[in-house]
Formats: sequence, structure tokens, C-alpha cells
Amino acid sequence: MTDYKKYHEEEQPYQEEQFRPEVVKEAIFVGSEALAKAPKIYGVPTGIEGLDDLFFIVEVENGKIVKKNLGGIPAYSVFNITGVSDTGKSLMVEQFAVKQASEGHRVAFITVETPANFVAASLKLRAAAMGLEFEKFEDNIVLIDAASNTKIRENLPDLLATLAYAIKTYKIKFTVIDSVTGLFENKESIARGIVRRIFNFLKKWYQTALLVSQKRSGHEELTAEAAGGYAVGHIVDGTMVLAKEIIDTTYKAKLYKKEVGDLVRLFRIDGCRMSGHDTKTHFMEITETGLVRILDPISKE
Ligand SMILES: Nc1ncnc2c1ncn2[C@@H]1O[C@H](COP(=O)(O)OP(=O)(O)OP(=O)(O)O)[C@@H](O)[C@H]1O
Ligand SMILES: [Mg+2]
Repeated sequence: MTDYKKYHEEEQPYQEEQFRPEVVKEAIFVGSEALAKAPKIYGVPTGIEGLDDLFFIVEVENGKIVKKNLGGIPAYSVFNITGVSDTGKSLMVEQFAVKQASEGHRVAFITVETPANFVAASLKLRAAAMGLEFEKFEDNIVLIDAASNTKIRENLPDLLATLAYAIKTYKIKFTVIDSVTGLFENKESIARGIVRRIFNFLKKWYQTALLVSQKRSGHEELTAEAAGGYAVGHIVDGTMVLAKEIIDTTYKAKLYKKEVGDLVRLFRIDGCRMSGHDTKTHFMEITETGLVRILDPISKE
């Protein structure tokens, strides 16, 4: 028997077994059943000045459609925060973790690049800059150190089992991962698979989550392509894109109303499935004390 024939004869029964169609009744819901399981959406304050007003929902009141400001990101949403190095991604997620912890909620902070002790020191600085006393709520932030621990960084099931344990033990509602990119270093072809599993996990546990993803400078700034570069944007509920640009032409100076040589930081919400949102490109700043603030849109029309 040739190898080819042997291969096919051996594979045949296995393939039939694999592809016999099966009805998965658990996957079918009528509208009312699905709706009964839908949690009510409300706004989760982020601790990032200027961001919370950019989300809204539309409700029917006395037969009329009204637009209501959410005052935060929609609860149970999983966001991707993307941008090249030094655009403020880590600062943003630290502000979010500090804000939620200061309000008495437990937050899981999975750190993939920086060891937990350094992140804790940074969180403390962020709290001080926000005018909050870190000691009062420091234990509300549960750090999971995947930076120092290869087992959880390189083995997704171990990481998710660890997170599930932390969520159950500490009754965690909010999760931050800085960064998911660090979970697929040198394995970019499986990036989508990893992000999808993390996304499904976070949904199952009703987490409101911010996932940082690093963007290569080659990807165009502030576009859908910018959303992590690995089509991560299609998997999560929404993406926030951070960018920085040097004003190197008089055209840009005019466009941004800045001087040649200035650095401008830009911010845009690139889609959100769970609520309405502002779609403009905004100026952004990082204050001297290390806080991200979202400013006015670059054009007001
Ligand atoms: N007091 C401060 N503390 C920390 N960062 C500050 C402070 N003031 C200004 N910054 C600026 O914020 C930047 C840090 O941004 P951040 O660490 O959030 O970047 P990032 O987008 O997470 O980058 P990376 O992809 O490299 O992790 C610093 O490089 C610095 O330019
Ligand atoms: Mg960072």
C-alpha cells in the first residue's frame, strides 16, 4: 500500500465521525429567552477625564426615542485599547483600576509585561494623582503576575483558570489585561484565537474589561487596522485607539492648530457594539502627574 492510500484509508472513519452533523439545541434561544438573560446596561466610570461622556444609550420613553448619556463605558463590555508605545495605554487602564477599586469594587489586574510590584507602585502614583488614598482600597486590586510567571503567561488555560479562581474568591467584576499582545509574542498567527478565548471567558464571567494591545508603528494611526493589527477589533465589543503625532508640516500645524515641532496626542473610539458612542477624533493629553485626559474633538463640526 502506498503511503498516500494508507493515509486516506486510515483517515476515513475518523473523518466521518468528525463531520456527522449534530443538532446543538443549547445554542438555540427564542428572543424572549435570550432577552431574559441579558443584563441591564449601565455606565461604568473610568476615572479618565473626558471619556465617560462619550458613551450613550437610546431608550424609548413614552413612545419617544431619547438619547441618554451613560456616564462611563457600558457595563459588561470588553474593550481593546490600542496604540504604539508610549501613547498612554497603561496609564489609562491603571486609572480605570484605581477608580473602580476606590469605589469599593474588586478589580483583577493581569500584568503581562511589568512585574506586579512595579505595577502596584505605579497604581499608587496614579491614585495619588487622582487625589485618592491608595491605602484605603489597595486590596481591592488583585494583581495576577503573568510577567514573572511563565506558566500563566505561556499557557492560556492556566491563566484563565487562575483568573476564574480569583474572580470567585474575590468576587471580581472588572478585569484589566496589560497587555494581551504579551500573551502571543512570536505566535501572532494564533492571536485571534487567544483573544477570542479571553473574550468568551470574560463574557461568561460578566466582566467589564479593558484589554491593552500594542500596535506596531507600521499600522496606520487611528484606523481599524490600528486596532491591534491582528483583527482583534472584530472580536471584542469595542476599541479605543490612542496615537501620537509630531507636527512636522505647516499643514498639520494648521489642521491641529499647533506649532511645528509640537507633539499631539489623539484619541478615538473605534466602534462599540454595546452602546452608542462619540465617533470624533479627540485631542488627548498626559498630565505631568501621569493622568490621561480626553480633550475636545480636533474639529467641532
Ligand atoms: N508622571 C508620569 N508618570 C508616568 N508617565 C508619564 C508621566 N508623565 C508623563 N508620562 C508619559 O506617559 C508615558 C507612559 O505612557 P504609558 O506607559 O501608558 O504608555 P503605553 O501606551 O502603555 O506604552 P507601551 O506600549 O510601551 O506599554 C510616558 O512615556 C510619558 O511620556
Ligand atoms: Mg504600557
